[in-house]
Amino acid sequence: TGELGTSRLMVNSSEKSSRSGVPSFFQHSVEGWRVNSSLVLMIRKDVLRFLDAERDVSVVKSSFKPGDTIHYVLDRRRTLNVSHTLHSLLPDVSPLKNKRFRTCAVVGNSGVLLNSGCGKEIDSHDFVIRCNLPPLSEFAEDVGLRSDFTTMNPSVIQRAYGGLKNATDTERFVQRLRGLNDSVLWIPAFMVKGGERHVESVNELIVKRKLRVRTAYPSLRLIHVVRGYWLTNKINIKRPSTGLLMYTLATRFCDEIHLYGFWPFPRDANGNMVKYHYYDMLKYRYFSNASPHRMPLEFKTLKMLHSKGALKLTTSKCE
Ligand code: CTP
Repeated sequence: TGELGTSRLMVNSSEKSSRSGVPSFFQHSVEGWRVNSSLVLMIRKDVLRFLDAERDVSVVKSSFKPGDTIHYVLDRRRTLNVSHTLHSLLPDVSPLKNKRFRTCAVVGNSGVLLNSGCGKEIDSHDFVIRCNLPPLSEFAEDVGLRSDFTTMNPSVIQRAYGGLKNATDTERFVQRLRGLNDSVLWIPAFMVKGGERHVESVNELIVKRKLRVRTAYPSLRLIHVVRGYWLTNKINIKRPSTGLLMYTLATRFCDEIHLYGFWPFPRDANGNMVKYHYYDMLKYRYFSNASPHRMPLEFKTLKMLHSKGALKLTTSKCE
């Protein structure tokens, strides 16, 4: 397999990419940037050497039976029992089976989105992926409203919904899930021990309240194979962030990937403060050992891929 920045991704910059069929909206908004379709295909091919993206995006019902024991992906000594509720919510088939989209948005949660006016552009993509169940309606102008695929780390339940301990938080959470309609809710339930209570409460609410959301739970190998792909390209990322996981998965399903809300830095290019999240007061953690991620390294990599036309990274205002 190739190496980003060296042979595989050093594609002749004069290579023509097909822009046919692209609505004028995109031609306008991506002025100065062109998708490099042959590079996109090359990356997809390389990613698929590691990832079986359809399968890795979620375990399916037939993978387990109730009562089975799962070893946590990043904490192999600890285990989780597959409850009846969890089993009932495993999808029968991968939620992305046979899916293919012309353009996708992967939306990170950086404060760089505030005052960006990117909402309309984000919503106009064929498939929109969001991370960690972020608030949308209050920020619609900057982030949009649409979501086809929403991730949710179990920690979100504690951080944003008070651990679902009282009725108000629970109702707020139920309303948020109702807003997802029948799109995908992706819960990394098997990564580390700690959030299992929250995952179970969420699962029970989905069943009891008959929420139409389509649950998905990443495969036990996803993080390892994604890490493997980047490592072969000499990018050593022990714990890929949700945003990078989503980009890597999207390479399988999307012909053109647009990233928004990726800016893991406390200041913008003009020295102005940038919030870590556009919607809360969470502080930057990734410079300390408290963060498992290497977001600045990820960002540098994504920027390099942007310059080569493999993806489009938007970190400023949308037109
Ligand atoms: N992100 C970014 N810059 C920020 C905040 C987030 O680039 N200032 C990207 C990262 O790729 C991150 C994604 O947006 O994974 C979603 O953000 P967030 O919900 O904050 O992710 P974390 O909880 O910090 O990390 P993770 O879910 O990856 O463990």
